[in-house]
Amino acid sequence: MKILVTGGAGYIGSHTCVELLNSGYEIAVLDNLSNSSEKSLDRIKEITGKDFEFYKCDLLDFEEVNKVFEAEQVDGVIHFAGLKAVGESVQKPLWYYHNNITGTLNLLKIMEMHKVYNIVFSSSATVYGNPKSLPIVEDFPLSTTNPYGSTKLYIEGILKDLFVSNNNFSVTILRYFNPIGAHKSGLIGEDPKGIPNNLMPYIQQVAIGKLPQLSVFGNQYPTKDGTGVRDYIHVVDLSIAHVKAVEKKSDVAGVHIYNIGTGNGYSVLEMVKAFEKASGKEIKYKICPNRPGDIPACFADATKAKNELDWVAQYNLEDMCRDGWNWQSKNPNGYEE
Ligand code: NAD
Ligand code: WQD
Repeated sequence: MKILVTGGAGYIGSHTCVELLNSGYEIAVLDNLSNSSEKSLDRIKEITGKDFEFYKCDLLDFEEVNKVFEAEQVDGVIHFAGLKAVGESVQKPLWYYHNNITGTLNLLKIMEMHKVYNIVFSSSATVYGNPKSLPIVEDFPLSTTNPYGSTKLYIEGILKDLFVSNNNFSVTILRYFNPIGAHKSGLIGEDPKGIPNNLMPYIQQVAIGKLPQLSVFGNQYPTKDGTGVRDYIHVVDLSIAHVKAVEKKSDVAGVHIYNIGTGNGYSVLEMVKAFEKASGKEIKYKICPNRPGDIPACFADATKAKNELDWVAQYNLEDMCRDGWNWQSKNPNGYEE
């Protein structure tokens, strides 16, 4: 079975390519490299000892994407390609809607033209907005607080409408919580451009001395220690969830929606402590005002993924911090030499 991985050069995509290849799938990768490096593809080949085609291609270019489907007989698509920076999406909403939504519309039209009816889509816990209670279950009300989140919610709606119009489709929507960590080889990992927006890449850059200290965004939330609580999940666990989704759902028509998280909530200060322990480095921090749009706490009920995908997170917080530090310390400048 051959899977086309859009956004396969990126952080989660590259890890999923490794798990797909290790599970015996053939793959082809489509990416415009707008937020990634082609070196990640060489590293995937190094880890797995397997080869695959790469198409440097933009989902906004309908003709080029169509050519990829003409060249490759794919059985399904895992669709990671998209822009993901929340703050940037507030500054450039039209660009985010265009890239993420038009890109997805092109992909779906071409899939239908070529009768490729399986898709796994990268959604996000951001579609739950500020949840009414915790843990979060898939049927909670949906809302968003920024254009990035809205692209995810609208694409979910587009996928549901597509299935209504064409019952051949098998759509699996995975709502990720907070992916961190890296492959244990230290060959692939998260390589944010510029100053990181997310907590763990920021902590990792403080640990290697690239950034002086962490700004902790708020310590007056109604949480265990006042700082924000999230459900951090090892990127390899998240990648395995994609393989399970393909295994279990690609021949089941319908729209299947799953939370992919561990079910554990850790605070910012707990993350700082866990990372200090794993790295042996002190993480200096200062308490700062809340970041606008942040919610106090968020963690998953992932029972549905357990029951229907036979998927459960295997890695704990110690593993996530160890593997994140292994990647960062071996590649202080990411994929750049
Ligand atoms: P990433 O930026 O590392 O990977 C996304 C990839 O898509 C990049 O390689 C980029 O070059 C490519 N891309 C973007 N627009 C494209 C286009 N028009 N055509 C072709 N390629 C394009 O991000 P990631 O962290 O690996 O995230 C993967 C997916 O998961 C994204 O859709 C993201 O929104 C979603 N997601 C990420 C997180 C997270 O915290 N990392 C959480 C929830 C959901
Ligand atoms: C985690 C916690 C911050 C940075 C975002 C997106 C979400 C999804 C995952 C894509 C919060 C605190 C952070 C810092 C801090 N992405 N923090 N100092 O906000 O849960 O989710 O990434 O879909 O859509 O919104 O993740 O890592 O940014 O923050 O104190 O420098 O760390 O306030 O409590 P978040 P995050």
